[in-house]
Amino acid sequence: MKNTNELSAIASAMVAPGKGILAADESTGTIKKRFDTIGTESTEENRRAYRDLLFTTDGAEEFISGVIMFDESLRQSTGDGVPFAEALRSRGIIAGIKPDKGAKDLAGFPGEKITEGLDGLRERLQEYRDLGAQFAKWRAVITIGEGIPTRFCLDANAHALARYAALCQETGLVPIVEPEVLMDGGHTLEQCGEVTEAALYRLYDALHEHQVFLEGTILKPNMVIPGKECPIQANPEQIAEATIECFLRSVPAAVPGIVFLSGGQTPVQATENLNAMNALGLKLPWELSFSYGRALQEPILKAWQGKSAHVAAAQQAYLHRAKLNGAARYGTYAGEMEQGAV
Ligand code: 13P
Repeated sequence: MKNTNELSAIASAMVAPGKGILAADESTGTIKKRFDTIGTESTEENRRAYRDLLFTTDGAEEFISGVIMFDESLRQSTGDGVPFAEALRSRGIIAGIKPDKGAKDLAGFPGEKITEGLDGLRERLQEYRDLGAQFAKWRAVITIGEGIPTRFCLDANAHALARYAALCQETGLVPIVEPEVLMDGGHTLEQCGEVTEAALYRLYDALHEHQVFLEGTILKPNMVIPGKECPIQANPEQIAEATIECFLRSVPAAVPGIVFLSGGQTPVQATENLNAMNALGLKLPWELSFSYGRALQEPILKAWQGKSAHVAAAQQAYLHRAKLNGAARYGTYAGEMEQGAV
């Protein structure tokens, strides 16, 4: 039996006003790429030290409701020996876990991906819950290109997301469902909108089929945005309008919140675009928030440079970026705030 009250209470807390989620769930391969940009070796201790600085930043709880972690981090502790999930909980931040095993080539469908990790998932989720996680995230990847995405790819990924979501709720974890339409390519804003809408229709159909309790879920989508190589780019107001139009058509009102991924947008773009949506002042059925990885962490990594002497500066950079995104939750962000003191 699902505890629906508990699930919806966690989901609502994840999208509390003025707050969003820090996606710090880079797999070992991905964090290595991030560390390469600052010339830092990706050892287990360096990964721990980096997550330690993120998870022990005083004041982050004002703007951050939850943190998504990779398996390794959920088993690690602060310098003082406090498990990360407990350190987060002590400051009122909810711990989350990425239990998927990554996007792999979808056999028979060149250029398309399917996310793996369903085998043994029930047992893994139970262990993650015992380690302190209260929510999870599963990412599906959808590519726009010549003749793709296929309907089959959308359905296969929607099915996996729904299987995962049902297992999460059985375990008492809130599932974040993430069907990411990539920004790679030359597609237009309109094409992104069409594909995103189709992906969301397939996803909510599958969630319904799997009897998932929508009030106890969170959606993590891409924004409706032109591909990086599209010659016609869009301003934040155009992105905001296209994105909200798409969701009004395809995301049920029972879903408590939508937390965007940044997906390759710069930190400033990701903040501006979220702000533009909330500044429209529309009465919407869901909270519009953030669950940024790169757009939150880029300035932190730059300030840190892998050096313990820079931890305080890196934490300042984190607080600053989190605060700006917190303002974007209310539509009160302005470019001048980029320079402001924390
Ligand atoms: P980005 O914000 O860097 O896209 O990462 C968010 C995330 O969790 C992707 O799964």
